[in-house]
Amino acid sequence: MSRLVVVSNRVGPLKDTGKAGGLAVALVDVLQEMGGLWFGWTGTTSDEGSFGPLQTEAVDTVTLAQIDMTQADYDDFYAGYANRTLWPVLHYRLDLADFSRRYEEGYRRVNERFATRLRPMLKADDVIWVQDYHFFNFAAELRAMGVTNKIAFFLHIPFPAPEILAGLPNADQLVRRMLAYDLIGFQTSRDAENFRRFVVSEIGGKDKGNGVVSAGGREVLVRGYPIGIDAAGFAKLATTPDARRHTARIEKLVGGRPQIIGVDRIDYSKGLPERFRAFERLLEDYPENRGGVSLMQVAPPSRSELDAYAEIRRELEELTGHINGRFADLDWTPIRFMARSFTRRALAGIYRASRVGLVTPLRDGMNLVAKEYVAAQRAEDPGVLVLSRFAGAAEGMPEALIVNPHSTEGVAAALQTALTMPLEERRDRWQAMFDRICAQDASAWAREILRDLDAYSK
Ligand code: ADP
Ligand code: F6P
Repeated sequence: MSRLVVVSNRVGPLKDTGKAGGLAVALVDVLQEMGGLWFGWTGTTSDEGSFGPLQTEAVDTVTLAQIDMTQADYDDFYAGYANRTLWPVLHYRLDLADFSRRYEEGYRRVNERFATRLRPMLKADDVIWVQDYHFFNFAAELRAMGVTNKIAFFLHIPFPAPEILAGLPNADQLVRRMLAYDLIGFQTSRDAENFRRFVVSEIGGKDKGNGVVSAGGREVLVRGYPIGIDAAGFAKLATTPDARRHTARIEKLVGGRPQIIGVDRIDYSKGLPERFRAFERLLEDYPENRGGVSLMQVAPPSRSELDAYAEIRRELEELTGHINGRFADLDWTPIRFMARSFTRRALAGIYRASRVGLVTPLRDGMNLVAKEYVAAQRAEDPGVLVLSRFAGAAEGMPEALIVNPHSTEGVAAALQTALTMPLEERRDRWQAMFDRICAQDASAWAREILRDLDAYSK
C-alpha cells in the first residue's frame, strides 16, 4: 500500500491538548487510523527558518516532520498573504483584505521552500495530500522539481463565487497553479462549483462534466467532499470522567436552567458580535427567558496580532459587559465569555450540558463544532442545534434550525423555538443528524478523497 504524506501549515498535536482549529482535529483522526508522514510548520520562528533542522517525532504509525519559518516568513506568508489576504477574500470579505505585493512574494517563497524540504523525503509511490489555503502553490512547486506522484488538495475554508475571487490580484494565476493537483476537494458542492466556474469564466478552461475541468493541458477532478468528525469517538469522549466533571459543574451552576453554548476561535468569520446581539434580542423579545437562559461562549484567541482579530475581541468584551450590565441579576449572569481553550474531553462535557448549540458563522468552510455538539448529546434528552445557512455544515444538517446570522430577530426567534421545542421533536431531529454524522465521519471523508484520487489519476 502507498504511504500517505499529508502537508499542512499546522501539524498535530496528536494528543488532546485543547489546541483549537478544525483542520488539525480532522487530520489527527484520519492519520492515526491510516498511518503516514505529516509535514508542516513547527509553529515557531528562528533565524534559519525553513533552512533549519527538520524536527521529527514518531507516534505509533504517524511520523511528524516539521520545520521553522523566519520572522519574515511568518509576517509575509502566515500573518500576511494567508491571513490578511486570502482568509478575508475566501470568506467574502474583500473589504478587510490587504493586497500587499510583499505578502504575495512571501507566499510564493514559503511554498517553494517547504516543497524543497519535503522533496528528499518523498518515495516514488507516496500519495501526497496537501491541506488548506496556506499551500495552494505546493503541487506546482513539487511538479517544477520533477515530482510525478499523485497529489490531492483539500480546502478547509470556503471558495467564493468567481465575482468575489476576481477581486484578488493575480487570482487567475493562483487558480492556474492549482491545476498542478490531480484532485481538488472542497467542503461543499457549491464551493466546487465556484472553482469550476472560475476556471471556465476567468482562465478560459473547459467544464468537462462529472466534476472534471481542463485548462493549460491539465485535467483535474474538482468535487465537494464535506469533512466529518470521528463522531462515535467524540460521543464516547462525552461520557469520560473528565467530560462528566465538566457537565456536572455546569449543571450545578445553572441549576436546571437552560444554557446555550457557542464554541469558536475568535474570528470575524464566526459572527460572534451578531450572535451576542441576537441573544440580547432573545431577552428583549421573549422576557420570560430573563433570569433563566444563559449563553456560554468559549472562544480561544486566534491570530491576535492581526488588527481585525484584536478588534473583534474588544467588541465582544464590550458587548458582554453591556448585555450583562443591562440584564444580570443576583443569581444569574446572562453571558459567560471565556477567551480560552479547553481539552476536547472538557468541551464534550460542556456541549452535553447545553440545551442549545448556537453556531452562527457569517461564512465557514464546514464548522466542526456543529457536528461535535450533535455527537456529544444524550440520546434520551438531546439539545437543539441552531445553525447558520452560511456554514458548510448546513448542506448536510437540514434538521438543525437553519438561520440567517445577519438577522438578529430571526436568530432570536430560532433560539426561542429551540428552547421550547418538545422532547419528541428534539429527539427526531437529533437522531437524523447523529446517524448522518456517524455514517459520514472523518475517516469516510478521507477514504473517499483518496479513493477518487487513485481512480482518477492513473
Ligand atoms: P475553524 O477550523 O475555523 O477553527 P471549526 O469549527 O471547523 O472551525 O473547528 C474548530 C475546532 O477547534 C473544533 O474541533 C473545536 O472543538 C475546536 N475548538 C474550538 N474552540 C475551542 C476551545 N476553546 N478549546 C478547545 N478546542 C476548541
Ligand atoms: O480550518 C481553517 C484553519 O485556518 C486551519 O487551517 C487552521 O489550522 C485553523 O483554522 C486555525 O487557524 P491558525 O492555524 O491560523 O491558528
